[in-house]
Amino acid sequence: MNIVSFLKQLYLDITWSMFPVWRLKKSGAKVGNNVFIGRHCYVELENAKFLTIEDGAVLAAYSKIILHDSSLNNINGFDLLYGRVILGKNCYLGADVTVLPGSKIGKNTIVGAGSLVKGDLNDNSVYVGRPAKFISSVDDLTTKWQKIKHSSVADQLGYQFLPKKSPYLVK
Ligand SMILES: CC(C)(COP(=O)(O)OP(=O)(O)OC[C@H]1O[C@@H](n2cnc3c(N)ncnc32)[C@H](O)[C@@H]1OP(=O)(O)O)[C@@H](O)C(=O)NCCC(=O)NCCS
Repeated sequence: MNIVSFLKQLYLDITWSMFPVWRLKKSGAKVGNNVFIGRHCYVELENAKFLTIEDGAVLAAYSKIILHDSSLNNINGFDLLYGRVILGKNCYLGADVTVLPGSKIGKNTIVGAGSLVKGDLNDNSVYVGRPAKFISSVDDLTTKWQKIKHSSVADQLGYQFLPKKSPYLVK
């Protein structure tokens, strides 16, 4: 690596870790308002034009957005494949979620920590696992946690609840 490419990479790395939303927009992604990108997330900036992040979407730490697939190209010379990724309004990617090309996360949808997404996920839903599968609606998850909050189970499991308005939620 020569000094010019080293400095260019350093600039990209620093701006990505400090101003990820600005870096995404600058790289060609469509990014809405009140979007949060956590620490150590990875997005293929060179293919960012395939990425849309709608208002209020949250990517928790270590999440990854993959926008191309070079597997066949590497093995038998088949075309490089690019795929759009859309993160819907107010969706929430838990820590260390990976989203593959050709995926869409529905609005208000939660993807559990460590999950792997390939394909389209519905709105207002909770998905977990590798590959991510539907486990409940957001309404049912909320009802469940409301019950836990007001029961002795919360204490037994060591949960604490902090009422707070999310700065990222977009109406
Ligand atoms: C997805 C999530 C919201 C579900 O919460 P929950 O109501 O507590 O879910 P439960 O504990 O009732 O789990 C329901 C089932 O899904 C499984 N599950 C829950 N979260 C999972 C995850 N992240 N990956 C794989 N499986 C998961 C549970 O093992 C359980 O499976 P079972 O029915 O076979 O026993 C939560 O687990 C989660 O991942 N939150 C994200 C946390 C995070 O990333 N925070 C970042 C802060 S910046």
